[in-house]
Amino acid sequence: MNRSVGIIGLGYYVPDRIITNKELESFVDTSDSWIIERTGIKERRISAETEATSDLAEKAASAALKDAGISPEQIDLIIVATATPDMAFPSVACIVQDKIKAYNAAAFDLSAGCSGFVYAMITAEQMIKSGLYRYILVIGAESLSKILDWKDRNTCVLFGDGAGAAVLAVTKEEYGILGSHMGSDGSGAELLKLPAGGSRMPANEKTVSEGMHFLSMNGNEVFKFAIKVMGEAAVKALEGSGLTADDIDLLIPHQANIRIIQSAAKRLKLPMNRVFVNVDKYGNTSAASIPIALCEAKDAGLLKEGHIIALVGFGAGLTWAASVIRWCKEDRTFA
Ligand code: UT7
Repeated sequence: MNRSVGIIGLGYYVPDRIITNKELESFVDTSDSWIIERTGIKERRISAETEATSDLAEKAASAALKDAGISPEQIDLIIVATATPDMAFPSVACIVQDKIKAYNAAAFDLSAGCSGFVYAMITAEQMIKSGLYRYILVIGAESLSKILDWKDRNTCVLFGDGAGAAVLAVTKEEYGILGSHMGSDGSGAELLKLPAGGSRMPANEKTVSEGMHFLSMNGNEVFKFAIKVMGEAAVKALEGSGLTADDIDLLIPHQANIRIIQSAAKRLKLPMNRVFVNVDKYGNTSAASIPIALCEAKDAGLLKEGHIIALVGFGAGLTWAASVIRWCKEDRTFA
């Protein structure tokens, strides 16, 4: 039986509010030139006070369902990859299930930092391949602005908010996801974390006064890890697909820092015109960054029938993940 699984619909949403580097200069000790030179970021989107991660996810999900041409009732499962849920529980996925009226869907969140969307996509692929489910909605959604210390220049200039979604289903034979790779190294857990508000350090006056509810990161160590792992993960996923880096038509890397993206391209010997970049517009939107980029690449006409698209991410955990897709322009399910 044909069990090639691919993306049959895409959607994304970013909040309207833009914070430029210039605006950051007005309240934190930084400069437009430092941020551009060290990260490639020019601006980022910030959600409204009343907007939570599920609100962003809902909009991206609705757009993806429309693009796929299926109704919410047809969705069997919703997986939301996020590090910034509305609250510790219930899951964002359950809140989205109710919002979009996906009455027949099971729902859960997945935590794998910025690799979350690719982890979720691979999980969904296996559930469709096994015959358990027909349509799965995979969402990467983040409200990182809500966990940033806006006085900390080491972190607040880097991140932004947004959501991207994909509908997965059986697709044309020999198209869709060809090979994937996932990895983790929990010994790096301390490098990127939200220290307080969990069972290790429950919320109290001290944690709040010491700013322990803000994202904390050792940027230099995460940078070194990212440089090492991005190319390696992509190569492993390519090996699993029977392809080499030469075959990649478009690399869609996690959008954290232009220097990390350039280094991954160099490792794969890919010219930058075969690498999708939008970190300048959105900063690092963690689990949302790859699906937003994928969606923008599609809107720009960069995903053509038969194209080999490589997705690769890294993030908190530490985690990394990559998938290689043969793009099916038809956007139709072959189930
Ligand atoms: O999705 C995964 C999440 N995280 C990442 O991907 C982040 C990975 N890491 C990075 O992207 C980079 O390490 C950063 C962008 C975070 C930092 O860039 P860097 O080139 O590694 O800079 P640095 O941390 O070595 O800092 C260099 C200097 C320091 O000053 P001194 O000590 O040399 O005087 C920093 O204090 O730059 C200073 N600095 C800043 N200056 C202006 C740090 N942040 C800023 C800032 N504006 N926003």
